[in-house]
Formats: sequence, C-alpha cells, structure tokens
Amino acid sequence: MKKVNLIYLLSAVLFGVMLIMASCTKEGPAGANGANGVDGQDGEDGIDGQDGTATCVQCHDNSQVMFAKVMQWESSTHATGGNFERNGEACAPCHTSQEFLERIVTGSQTSSVINNPNPPNCYTCHNIHDSYTPEDWSLTTTAPVTIWINGVSTDQGNANVCVECHQSLVPDPIPVPDSKEDITIGSPYWGPHHGPQGAVMAGTGGYEVGGGYTNSMHSSIVENTCITCHLATAYGIQAGGHNMGMTYAYHGHDVVNSAGCVECHDPEGLETKIEETKDEIDGLLGDLRSILLTQGVLDSSDHVIPGTMAMDQAGGVFNYLYVLEDRSGGAHNFNYTKKLMENSIASLSD
Ligand code: HEC
Ligand code: HEC
Ligand code: HEC
Ligand code: HEC
Ligand code: HEC
Ligand code: HEC
Repeated sequence: MKKVNLIYLLSAVLFGVMLIMASCTKEGPAGANGANGVDGQDGEDGIDGQDGTATCVQCHDNSQVMFAKVMQWESSTHATGGNFERNGEACAPCHTSQEFLERIVTGSQTSSVINNPNPPNCYTCHNIHDSYTPEDWSLTTTAPVTIWINGVSTDQGNANVCVECHQSLVPDPIPVPDSKEDITIGSPYWGPHHGPQGAVMAGTGGYEVGGGYTNSMHSSIVENTCITCHLATAYGIQAGGHNMGMTYAYHGHDVVNSAGCVECHDPEGLETKIEETKDEIDGLLGDLRSILLTQGVLDSSDHVIPGTMAMDQAGGVFNYLYVLEDRSGGAHNFNYTKKLMENSIASLSD
C-alpha cells in the first residue's frame, strides 16, 4: 500500500515540476511587419449587359414617323369601317386581324368565331413585336395569292398582302360561262362581295362569256400595284399613305391623289383621262343594269332576284356587281372590266 502511494506521490510531484517548467517558457514581443508583397494581376473586365431598349427606340423614337402612320391609319376605312364585327366563320378571315394572320398560314377560307375582334391594323400587315427590331416592318405575307374563286395565281409583289383580302368571295353556285344550263340562285346576297380589286387588277375572276379579253397597262407595269397608287405620298390624313384612300376633298369637290401617278402620267390632262375612263365604265354599268332590271333578274337596290334563270343572266348580274364593287372607274383594269360588261351585254341581247 505504502509503495503504491509513494509512486503515486512521486509522479504527482514530477507532473507538478513539468507544469512549472512549461509555464516558464514565455513568448517574446512581436517582430516588425514584413515588406508588402507584389500586387496580383488585374482580373478581366466583365461583359456589359445589353441595353434592353436599344432596338425598341429605332421605331419608338422622336422622329414622329410612327405617329404620322398611326394618324393616317386611324382615319382610314380599315380603322373606321366598323365591319370587323363580322367575326363569324365566313367573314373573320378578311374582316378580323387575328383570323387573317391565322389563315395566311393555314390557307383556310373559313375560321372559328374570333372573340375581341380587331380590324386590319399595324399587326395585320407588319410583323410588329416579333423580333423587336426594325426588321418587324416586314410584311406578314408577300407570297403570290391563289384567287379563291378560280384558283388562278397572281403575284403583285408587296401588294399581295392587300390582294389576300381584296378579292371576291366564292358565290354559291358559281356561274360557268360555257354551260348553257339554267342556274338556281337562292339568296339576294349572292354575288362577288364588296372588294374584288385584287382579282380585277390581275384580270381574272369575272364571268368570261365570249372572247377578246385583254388587260390594261396598269395590271403589268405598276410595281407593287395597290401600294404605288394607294400608299403614295399622303395628303394629310384624307388620302394616300396609311389612310390608303385615293381621293380627298379640295375646295368642295373630290380629287384623286395623283402622287403615285405622276411618275408615269403628265399631271396636265390626268384628271380628264380619269374622267373619260370613268364615264365609259359608268355608261356600260348603266346599260348592263337596265337590261338586268328589264329581264327581272336584278332589283332596284342592286341585288339579284332569287330564282332559276339563264346562265348568262346570272353571269350578267355577277359581272355588273363585280365592276360596280371594284369602284375604281376603270383605273384598276380598264380593258378587262370594259370587256366583261360589253360581252355580258351582247350575251343578253341575242
Ligand atoms: C418595328 C418597329 C417596332 C419595334 C422595333 C418595337 N415596336 Fe413597340 N410598337 C410598334 C408599333 C407599330 C406599335 C403599335 C402602334 C400603335 O398602336 O400606336 C407598337 C406598340 C407598342 C406599345 C404599346 C402597347 C401595344 O402593345 O400596343 C408598347 C408598350 C411597345 N410598343 C413597346 C415596345 C418595346 C419595349 C420594344 C422593344 C423591346 C418595342 N416596342 C419595339 C413598333 C415597334
Ligand atoms: C385583313 C384584310 C385586309 C387587308 C390585308 C387589306 N385590306 Fe383594305 N380593307 C379590308 C376591309 C375589310 C375593308 C373595309 C373595312 C370596313 O368596312 O370595316 C377595307 C377597306 C379598304 C379601303 C377603303 C375603301 C373605302 O371605301 O374607303 C382601301 C382603299 C383599302 N382597303 C386598300 C387596301 C390596301 C392598299 C391594302 C394593302 C396595303 C389593304 N387594303 C389590305 C380588308 C383588308
Ligand atoms: C375575301 C375576303 C373577305 C371575306 C371572306 C369577307 N369580306 Fe366583307 N369585305 C372585304 C373587303 C376587302 C371589303 C372592303 C371592300 C371595299 O371597300 O371596296 C369588305 C367590305 C364589307 C362590307 C362593307 C360594304 C360597304 O359597302 O361598306 C360589309 C358589310 C361586309 N364586307 C360584310 C361581309 C360579311 C357579312 C362577310 C361574311 C359573310 C364578309 N364580308 C366576308 C373582304 C371580305
Ligand atoms: C393594310 C396593311 C397595312 C397596315 C394596316 C399598316 N401598314 Fe404600314 N405598311 C404597309 C405597306 C404595304 C407598306 C409599304 C411597304 C413597301 O414599301 O413596299 C408599309 C410601310 C410602313 C412603314 C415604312 C416601313 C419601312 O420599311 O421603313 C412604316 C413605318 C409603317 N408601315 C408603319 C405602320 C404603322 C405604325 C401601322 C399601324 C398604325 C401600319 N403601318 C399599318 C401596310 C400596312
Ligand atoms: C393605277 C393606280 C391604282 C392601282 C394600282 C390600284 N388602285 Fe385602287 N383605285 C385607284 C383609283 C384611281 C380609284 C378610284 C378613285 C375614285 O375616283 O374614287 C381606286 C379605287 C379603289 C377603291 C375604292 C375606294 C377608294 O379609295 O376610292 C378600293 C377599295 C381600291 N381602289 C383598292 C385597291 C386595291 C386593293 C388595289 C391592289 C390590288 C388597288 N386598288 C390598286 C387607283 C389604283
Ligand atoms: C407605272 C406607270 C403608271 C402609273 C404609276 C400609273 N399609270 Fe395610268 N397608265 C399607264 C400607262 C402606260 C397607261 C396606258 C397608256 C395611256 O393611256 O396613257 C395608263 C392608262 C391610264 C388610264 C386610261 C385607262 C387605261 O387603263 O388604259 C387612266 C385613267 C390612268 N392611267 C390613270 C392613272 C391614275 C389615276 C394613276 C395613279 C393613281 C395611274 N394611272 C398610275 C401607266 C401608269
């Protein structure tokens, strides 16, 4: 027992001595600071972020160009005509912006009903807010157009976007010139509809009884057809530019905006030329109309009288409405529209 205690005591003493010795080795005062190290190499600059509106301002700038186009459009029949409420399946493809954009992709002539319909506007003809760059002024279509009523293809350049809508509807039934059969028409609204201009320009789509059909110079030499004449330098907001109308009131009478004509026509005498052409077309329209009224196939409000009639009578009504609704007084295609009426008059006078 004593021996164990002694060893225990000795080791406790030894441990105590070690502790004292350890606590006696004290640290000295801190030395002077070392010299500064060499500077490290600079890091690479980061890439600047893109200005989110850099491309926007190429259109949304202070040049007032867009404002002018908006003003012209706001006063146009496209904006004010009101017929875009015709948003049903047979009408929406031309009367609403949304269905137009759909059908130039699908090629369909009918659609579903369009809710919140819009009239033809910036987004109908331009690819606005597609890439958000000025590239978006490009037109939504420039492809040649297959005319609905007869499948004829026409290429009027940048005006193809206009021709897509400004063509006749397909009447049911379609009158066929070579057939000598009678035809039965069920509705007073039968006919080519209101806007056949694109097909008239191309010299197609009428009821071509007889022969001798030719086109006016306008149908071949006016580049981008509609655009040259209708989108010429604007006269305020009444005509030209994005109003797209051809006439404006000047000192109480309507004048044709000749800004797009003068590259080819001498302004001197142009008004007379327009008048003479219009008088000739109006004269033929009057002659054809009285024949159709006398034969009891047209009523006094220019609607067909439903019933069974000779093919040439239906064709006569069709041609009458076709030229009437073209509304250019022969400016679109004088030769073609003149011949359609002359031949219809001849076919009904035999
Ligand atoms: C190709 C030219 C063009 C470019 C590029 C463009 N816009 Fe537009 N923007 C238009 C046109 C055209 C309208 C319709 C004008 C109107 O109705 O007054 C419009 C309308 C707008 C409107 C009004 C709201 C609307 O949708 O009708 C806003 C906001 C707008 N743009 C923002 C922008 C921004 C942001 C950018 C860039 C990221 C941009 N735009 C790039 C042409 C452009
Ligand atoms: C989406 C179909 C569509 C397109 C594309 C279109 N139009 Fe129209 N246009 C119409 C409709 C529909 C009206 C009649 C609007 C109404 O009565 O509500 C009209 C009316 C007009 C009128 C006015 C007629 C009047 O009585 O005052 C002119 C002129 C015209 N369009 C020319 C053009 C030209 C030129 C282009 C091509 C740059 C064009 N349109 C493209 C559908 C279209
Ligand atoms: C192929 C395209 C197209 C289709 C489909 C179409 N329209 Fe039109 N419509 C036009 C164009 C283009 C005009 C403008 C013509 C003009 O001003 O010379 C127009 C004009 C009109 C007008 C105004 C006529 C006037 O004298 O002011 C009415 C009303 C109308 N359409 C009704 C309809 C109805 C109803 C339907 C459906 C059954 C329909 N449209 C289908 C292209 C179309
Ligand atoms: C009915 C079709 C149509 C509508 C609607 C329309 N445009 Fe245009 N726009 C055109 C055509 C066609 C051109 C001429 C293209 C050419 O020079 O061949 C054009 C040209 C332009 C240009 C010149 C583009 C360039 O390349 O410098 C501007 C800007 C413009 N339109 C703005 C507008 C604005 C803003 C709206 C709406 C308020 C609008 N457009 C509505 C058909 C349309
Ligand atoms: C050679 C020039 C010329 C070309 C090309 C032309 N038009 Fe016209 N357009 C006229 C003239 C002139 C009138 C008759 C103006 C008047 O006396 O009322 C007219 C009348 C019209 C009208 C009747 C309403 C109005 O503004 O007087 C419409 C709609 C129309 N054109 C659409 C078109 C379309 C769509 C195209 C292309 C397919 C086209 N035009 C091509 C010169 C042209
Ligand atoms: C690219 C050239 C060109 C442009 C643009 C043009 N014309 Fe013509 N026009 C002609 C030629 C060529 C003829 C046939 C020879 C003649 O009668 O002077 C013609 C003929 C006519 C005729 C006689 C009927 C016919 O078609 O044969 C009228 C009317 C007419 N133009 C009016 C206009 C009006 C209005 C405009 C502008 C809105 C216009 N033209 C734009 C070249 C053009």
